Amino acid sequence: MEKTEKIWMDGKLVAWEDAKIHVLTHTLHYGSGVFEGIRFYETDKGPAIFRLHDHMARLFHSASTLEMKVPFSIKELEKAVVETVKANKVKAGYIRPLVYYGYGKMGLYPHGAPVNVCIAVWPWGAYLGHDAVKVKVSSFLRVHPKSFIADAKVCGSYVNSINASLEAKREGFDEALMLDYRNFVSEGPGENIFMVKGGKLLTPSLGSILPGITRNSILQIAKDEKIGTVEKDISLEELKNADELFYTGTAAEVTGIAQIDHTTIGNGKAGPITEKLKKMYLDSVHGKNKKYEQWLTYC
Ligand SMILES: Cc1ncc(COP(=O)(O)O)c(C=O)c1O
Repeated sequence: MEKTEKIWMDGKLVAWEDAKIHVLTHTLHYGSGVFEGIRFYETDKGPAIFRLHDHMARLFHSASTLEMKVPFSIKELEKAVVETVKANKVKAGYIRPLVYYGYGKMGLYPHGAPVNVCIAVWPWGAYLGHDAVKVKVSSFLRVHPKSFIADAKVCGSYVNSINASLEAKREGFDEALMLDYRNFVSEGPGENIFMVKGGKLLTPSLGSILPGITRNSILQIAKDEKIGTVEKDISLEELKNADELFYTGTAAEVTGIAQIDHTTIGNGKAGPITEKLKKMYLDSVHGKNKKYEQWLTYC
């Protein structure tokens, strides 16, 4: 991981090396924190953060599922993100806000522990590489939506994603894909999935997936481009018969899928609709498409 200079902690920018917490921090033991992953990109007008407000709104929603009283407003944290990006003088990278139950109370009922916030920024290149990836259908199911809150980014629920990632890599794949509790296609460990069939774009409906901000952006771009979009339950068999498949996510951006288990998708490369949507997405995050400039917060 590439270091930067400053990390924002509870209202102050501190040196990267000094951003430390106590080992008895509640979230370290029980996963009782919530986080976001945001990217900022180089543009002609300086660094621009992609869909900052949507990410912060999701962060506050996630916090509310754990009854966390975030000691800052959304506006204050949005300002803090901009301040952190500016302070680090990096042109492009990843932003990680984390809200966590801190040090002072143990036990599974978190009230009584302080709520702390930090924001770190660092350069982070392509998450899944530049080529289409090989994906393993995980033996781990996406956690049942009644066992965790699917539309919240809660630290503890990512152990499900970690198990799936470890298994996929162990077996020689680049990434995992999880099915839901009904055996329909759900999502990757940190990505939403799309399929192209007969010129249409299909993606699993909300319910057992994180409502990805990249997913939402791609659906918007596709609609604007008059590409038909369908959100529905998708079986694994239907998925394997796709003309094209791709993952979306803040980290993964738009990444083609070459293979699901040992089935090759299309010609084993990112397909033409994937490439078109990927280009439009990357143009919009870099401020090259005026139509989507309202998604950018310039720093
Ligand atoms: C489980 C999961 N699904 C999907 C996504 C994609 O969401 P987004 O596009 O908002 O980054 C992420 C990343 O945040 C994730 O962790």
